Amino acid sequence: MTTVDRNYNDADEIVMERSHLDEVIHEIDINSKVLFTWDYERSRTALVKLYEKAKTSQWNATTDLPWETEVDNERLASEMGGSNERFNVLRENPGSPVRHWGEAEWTRFRIEMQNFMLSQFLHGEQGALVCTGLITSTVPWIDAKYYAATQVMDEARHVEVFGRYLDEKMGGTYPISPQLASLLDSIIVDGRWDITYLGMQIMVEGLALAAFGLMHMITQEPLLKKLLRYVMSDEARHVAFGVLSLKEFYAGLSAPEIRSRQEFAFEAALALRNRFSAQDVWSRLGADPKAVVRFLNQNPNPGEQMFQTMLFSKIVPNCKKLGLLDAGDGWLRQKFTEIGIIQFEDWVDTTEEYGTLDAVAADRVEGEPAA
Ligand SMILES: [Fe+2]
Ligand SMILES: [Fe+2]
Repeated sequence: MTTVDRNYNDADEIVMERSHLDEVIHEIDINSKVLFTWDYERSRTALVKLYEKAKTSQWNATTDLPWETEVDNERLASEMGGSNERFNVLRENPGSPVRHWGEAEWTRFRIEMQNFMLSQFLHGEQGALVCTGLITSTVPWIDAKYYAATQVMDEARHVEVFGRYLDEKMGGTYPISPQLASLLDSIIVDGRWDITYLGMQIMVEGLALAAFGLMHMITQEPLLKKLLRYVMSDEARHVAFGVLSLKEFYAGLSAPEIRSRQEFAFEAALALRNRFSAQDVWSRLGADPKAVVRFLNQNPNPGEQMFQTMLFSKIVPNCKKLGLLDAGDGWLRQKFTEIGIIQFEDWVDTTEEYGTLDAVAADRVEGEPAA
């Protein structure tokens, strides 16, 4: 990836071509080296602790969630309406490309957006499944191979739960957004093992943890609420795994090596932000996505900025903990300031948080059978 001076809000950059994603199978050539290690010494105590936690906090998607719950999609979508406030300007402004939409179209839009968001969670989870399978092979440390193996199981369960929810309760899925697909491709194709970690464990999972947290806080739908609560308790461990591993590795890198990680993190942040342009929702409802994005950029509203930036509330402190914000001449700090997300730098980082987010363990203490 290259980073040059450019307009990060250009609709032509944000809305992407997606015809290469039409096939059922999406193939990527990888450049990674598979590493065996003959050093079985359990020397990384923080990873050992995380691995032990992962073993005791497993849950069963089939039996631990109330799948019998009837889901009212219209009600669910209206609960989540607050997260769509950023689109209100499209309803009110006379120059809006969807000014002609009435209440029925907006209700449909909210339902489609909920489906779109959960679908991107599903595809992102498959990305995590693939990446952690890869990490078991490419990471040089035995403690990290052990931990990554538990994460493979976690991610399979996450793909399972989002897939089942979309299929049984929402009647189908949206395809992967081209922005998310392109980010996953760039993470997987890169041959450096730490980039798989940085892209997936820090950036994608950091954003997912924040997005799940917002949705979990808002929704009253009992199945989705419990599903998100359990997924989040796994995700917090995953982000912690990324931070613990990379902190050690990045301490030994040269300045140019760190700079290339800073650039990767920034490009990933842009891709994650643009993922929410939801171009496929606009297309499905007959609106021109570029016209919508252009209009939203010309008419920014505080609700939108609030929503977009909250999603970076985990990523920024974790990048700080890794030393990526201020390494070199503080390049990443500067870039995160430009896109308005630097204010999260002192929020709690996830190496401290995963214990408090362990919902599975908490339910077991309360006597609720979690398995
Ligand atoms: Fe996951
Ligand atoms: Fe994860």
